[in-house]
Amino acid sequence: MRNIIAAFAGLVFAGTAYGQTCQTTTLTSSVPTNGTEVALGSYSYCGGTLNATAYIANLDYNKVVSLYYTNAQGQSTPLSVVTFGYSSSIGTDGSWELWTTSTPIYIDGITRLLNLTFQATDIGQTYTQTLNLPVNATGAAAPTLASPPAPYATPRGFGDDITTWLSINIGSELETAFQKMFVNINPAITGAAQGVVVAARSGPSYVNLDPDYEYNWVRDASLTMDVVQMLYSASTKVKAQKQYEDVLFQYAGARATEQNDPNLQTGLGEPKFYLNNTIFSGPWGRPQNDGPATSAITLMEFANDYLANGGSMDTVKQKIYDSTAFPSAAPVQKDLLFVASNWTSPSFDLWEEEESDHFYTRMVQRRALVMGAAFATKMGDSSTSATLSAAASALSATLSQFWDPNRHILLYEYGPVLHGKSSYLDIAVVLGVIHGYAGDGVYGFTNDEVLSSALRIAISFINVYPIANKTSDSSGNVLGIPIGRYPEDVYNGYGTVDNGGNPWYLCTAAMAQLMYSASTEFADAGSISISNVSKPFFDYFAPAAKLQVGQNYAYGSQKYNQAINGLNGWGDAFMRTVKYYTPSNGTLSEEFNRNTGVAQGAADLTWSYASVLTAAFARAETRGQKSYVKNLANLGFQANTVS
Ligand SMILES: *[C@@H]1O[C@H](CO)[C@@H](O)[C@H](O)[C@H]1NC(C)=O
Ligand SMILES: *[C@@H]1O[C@H](CO)[C@@H](O)[C@H](O)[C@H]1NC(C)=O
Ligand SMILES: *[C@@H]1O[C@H](CO)[C@@H](O)[C@H](O)[C@H]1NC(C)=O
Ligand SMILES: *[C@@H]1O[C@H](CO)[C@@H](O)[C@H](O)[C@H]1NC(C)=O
Ligand SMILES: *[C@@H]1O[C@H](CO)[C@@H](O)[C@H](O)[C@H]1NC(C)=O
Ligand SMILES: *[C@@H]1O[C@H](CO)[C@@H](O)[C@H](O)[C@H]1NC(C)=O
Ligand SMILES: *[C@@H]1O[C@H](CO)[C@@H](O)[C@H](O)[C@H]1NC(C)=O
Ligand SMILES: *[C@@H]1O[C@H](CO)[C@@H](O)[C@H](O)[C@H]1NC(C)=O
Ligand SMILES: *[C@@H]1O[C@H](CO)[C@@H](O)[C@H](O)[C@H]1NC(C)=O
Repeated sequence: MRNIIAAFAGLVFAGTAYGQTCQTTTLTSSVPTNGTEVALGSYSYCGGTLNATAYIANLDYNKVVSLYYTNAQGQSTPLSVVTFGYSSSIGTDGSWELWTTSTPIYIDGITRLLNLTFQATDIGQTYTQTLNLPVNATGAAAPTLASPPAPYATPRGFGDDITTWLSINIGSELETAFQKMFVNINPAITGAAQGVVVAARSGPSYVNLDPDYEYNWVRDASLTMDVVQMLYSASTKVKAQKQYEDVLFQYAGARATEQNDPNLQTGLGEPKFYLNNTIFSGPWGRPQNDGPATSAITLMEFANDYLANGGSMDTVKQKIYDSTAFPSAAPVQKDLLFVASNWTSPSFDLWEEEESDHFYTRMVQRRALVMGAAFATKMGDSSTSATLSAAASALSATLSQFWDPNRHILLYEYGPVLHGKSSYLDIAVVLGVIHGYAGDGVYGFTNDEVLSSALRIAISFINVYPIANKTSDSSGNVLGIPIGRYPEDVYNGYGTVDNGGNPWYLCTAAMAQLMYSASTEFADAGSISISNVSKPFFDYFAPAAKLQVGQNYAYGSQKYNQAINGLNGWGDAFMRTVKYYTPSNGTLSEEFNRNTGVAQGAADLTWSYASVLTAAFARAETRGQKSYVKNLANLGFQANTVS
């Protein structure tokens, strides 16, 4: 066997999998004894799936095992890598482990294995086996990218049921989400610092102990405070406006406290704090470099409105912007400069699962930098402005790498298949546009690539969630596709289970919001132009319009109206799915079960409430209801009291 290993001669076995004749090349079927730490065991590329096994020395706890290859175009890119997962321990002393991968890679294809790399991250060592082995496709022909199916329904226009559900009345879902979101801001928990947001009412202080979300996450807090900022901006009643203003100044202070925590492990990308706003220092996916960006965005928007309302420039500098002169109170400049110097570093994604270069993270970083350049100028800080401007340009130049012309999607990350997410589909792309669009025409709601991605992400769940076969409510109104994070998800809200991933309220609401915002943006543009990239989106969501590639449909024309009716109809269909699976008391947890539709996961997830509010605001905007947000904002909220 050692000779075979050394010479890479290989043994070829024919076997069948799913009725195909697959050939597996075996290099070794026992642990290496020649002093190496990593050895490829076997591999096959059959029917479009790459299978491989590897022997890995058990040198530390955290291991990353990656197989680099050359794709069918003869290229080696950040995408032509698959990662392995732990399979079993070998022998009795546990000194070796078998790691495996089974990953569909037919879109990229494969011609040659380059090397197998084992990073023992705890001890900072990397071991590599050079391979340079040809790979022959065996078994059935690799599949090609599937065309989207025909739509299962053709909803058109807004629904009265959704209008009622989102009306500004005591007890409507809108008002319920509004009040319940504020219960989680400055939560009534002894020791909670001012300006923090608890991610969910789930953890040791609550009735629901599991999962433990009793923390202040930088991302969740910033996205929640962005809603508070929208309410601040819209309110006209002094009392309500003052409530929002106080909360937002507290939030700015809380963010500055986080920045100054002496125990930050990964700088300002530190993702998670206790409610007393000291760092959570246990093992976690860190850094998450979207947080500094979304925090800065929220606070700059607030500062702009505060100034427009007659607030003082000195206060903005002291409590929001000028981290150089007021480091313990004003966080924005520091977060922006961190984004400018760190946007090229890989970081963990918004789901805290994968360290890579993420579309979501880049989008929110870009928006922070673009807004920041203008804001710094307003603050008289031309040197920071120049730094941010330069970083924004450099970052913008990288965004085109996320478009995958073979998959017709924006990749949620530009990097290896991690955690088996081989579809590269993730609602994070849509959320990246919702939270990261800078309003300057770069990856906005009507961008062809965004629309194509949104379609492919949405339809990917139809065959994944059994409840997707429930396509109308008891009144016969269309239910939109239940949307989760990504089709391969295994997190069920408490832990990981095979086929355990569920639809999420915030992901389904995000699809609705995209539809409404696209509708608004087309109206602002005055027309809809169809390209071969965007056509499948319209064929699915607005088939009645029969739009054609190369055509431009003017605002108000019959086909334009048919298309917009389709978008609005689907927007409401997605919201109706949120409504359908919301318990009658209006509470929103994190997810609803893929088989039964029953709510599960973290109870009263703050972001779920925030997502229903922002989708409702986008719906009102496209319906031209200019007083909607104002009327909600003017209700004011019930302040929490610590018992
Ligand atoms: C041990 O064998 C592996 C292949 O299994 C080879 O890549 C490596 O170079 C060998 N190491 C030594 C020290 O001979
Ligand atoms: C590849 O791995 C999968 C999952 O372990 C297995 O079902 C399949 O039979 C394997 N295919 C080949 C050709 O070994
Ligand atoms: C493995 O291959 C990749 C892709 O060519 C290359 O970037 C990397 O440096 C290689 N690793 C080693 C240790 O040779
Ligand atoms: C792969 O194909 C090449 C060329 O057809 C052939 O020479 C080689 O033996 C094949 N390798 C395996 C492992 O089947
Ligand atoms: C903050 O809260 C955590 C968790 O309850 C606790 O372990 C820590 O000691 C607290 N820190 C301070 C400074 O109170
Ligand atoms: C941020 O950038 C600095 C300077 O380039 C670097 O030293 C640091 O490791 C980066 N931090 C993160 C979290 O990426
Ligand atoms: C939908 O799927 C579920 C679970 O597979 C099944 O129990 C139910 O009968 C199906 N409903 C319809 C309308 O097909
Ligand atoms: C669209 O057309 C261009 C130019 O013909 C082509 O390169 C591209 O692959 C097409 N894209 C899609 C998604 O069909
Ligand atoms: C709301 O209803 C859900 C589902 O029935 C239940 O689990 C939850 O405890 C209720 N919450 C409140 C605040 O009544």
